[in-house]
Amino acid sequence: MTTATCPLTPEDQIPPYVADDISEVLISSARIQKRVHELGAAISRDYAGKDLLMVGVLRGVLFFMADLLRAVTIPVSVDFMAISRYGPSERTRGVVRFVKDLEEPIEGRHVLFVEDIIDTGFTLGYILKNLRTRHPASLQVCVLLDKPRLRLIDLDIAYQGFEIPDRFVVGYGLDYRQRYRNLPFIAVLKPEVYAS
Ligand code: PRP
Repeated sequence: MTTATCPLTPEDQIPPYVADDISEVLISSARIQKRVHELGAAISRDYAGKDLLMVGVLRGVLFFMADLLRAVTIPVSVDFMAISRYGPSERTRGVVRFVKDLEEPIEGRHVLFVEDIIDTGFTLGYILKNLRTRHPASLQVCVLLDKPRLRLIDLDIAYQGFEIPDRFVVGYGLDYRQRYRNLPFIAVLKPEVYAS
């Protein structure tokens, strides 16, 4: 799905404390909620009668996971992992360290991995490889924002919220230097903010 324009509501007003940093609202709060409910309905249909476990990586997935869980109308469990990256060099690119592992075993369970955004795909590729070694009954991916033009590895995405252009986006969980996560919409950050 692309980022079709839709009316902005009062909730999409850019708050004064970030007004100088944001160039535009890319996806309104209402549009996010509508799409999340469509995804929740599709997931509920596809996983009916199965032991569904939704897994997310902290922290960007926070709001998407919370809203998606509430849009799912079948029994579902949730678990989280946290990672840190080694660095941007060629040798370590895509290699992550798990700083918090899952609480629950996933063997024999139907795992839906939920991500806020996929750029290169390295992070997701690494995590999926790890999860496959734990022998889930199935392993699929649900991502809110996809930047396919930046993709460097092949990934199979079962559920996609929005395809977006290669712009620096924040809000609805996504950050720049840990800020902007609490904006209720997806916004484009002005280049001078992250170039400085
Ligand atoms: C984001 C996102 C993915 C990763 C995608 O995490 O949650 O994990 O970047 O990038 P890739 O496809 O190029 O590997 P981020 O580093 O922003 O951490 P956060 O979830 O704590 O915000």
